[in-house]
Amino acid sequence: MIKSVEEFNSKIKSVMISEEEIQAKIKEVAKEIDSWYDGTPILLVSILKGAFVFMADICRAVTVPCEIGFMCAQSYYAGTESSGIVNITMDLDRDVSDYHLVIIEDIIDTGRTLNDVVKLLKARNPVSLRIVTLLDKPARRVVDLEPDIALFTIPDNFIIGYGLDCGEYFRNLPYIAIYNEEV
Ligand code: IMP
Ligand code: MG
Repeated sequence: MIKSVEEFNSKIKSVMISEEEIQAKIKEVAKEIDSWYDGTPILLVSILKGAFVFMADICRAVTVPCEIGFMCAQSYYAGTESSGIVNITMDLDRDVSDYHLVIIEDIIDTGRTLNDVVKLLKARNPVSLRIVTLLDKPARRVVDLEPDIALFTIPDNFIIGYGLDCGEYFRNLPYIAIYNEEV
């Protein structure tokens, strides 16, 4: 538990991606998403909690008619091996078989959680499924999973802000920062 503003600020090591850079990239990517569907309605699916800020910005930047949906997922692994069990603690509220799905994710790290979610959603037979992630840490990947779009590819630092947390704090920072593990 963080006890003061000073302690909170001391954990923010440096800004990795500024608010302006994020917002400029979102405008670009929204145009690309629009071009994929040419006006055909889509369902944006975001995985809570980390992707909620990105979802709020991307859904307001696309012009294609869209619905939004949220899922909460946790994967359990024995050691480094996937148990193949994804625990959906909150599921979508509709049948996805009539939809073009676009998964809106915050970060792909090992890729395990998203891989399980993708398998689960594909088994529900959507018309199509694409993955848009704000951040990609390819160095850490342990499964064969590539996003259709990654707004930023980053090195293996632990990062916070713009939806991403450490101990549930820092999600409200409007930029992405490197977490200071030394204090
Ligand atoms: P994975 O791809 O299954 O390993 O897990 C990805 C999830 O771990 C993301 O959706 C984030 O919630 C969390 N995560 C991974 N890397 C970071 C980070 O650098 N900062 C904050 N959360 C992270
Ligand atoms: Mg996440």
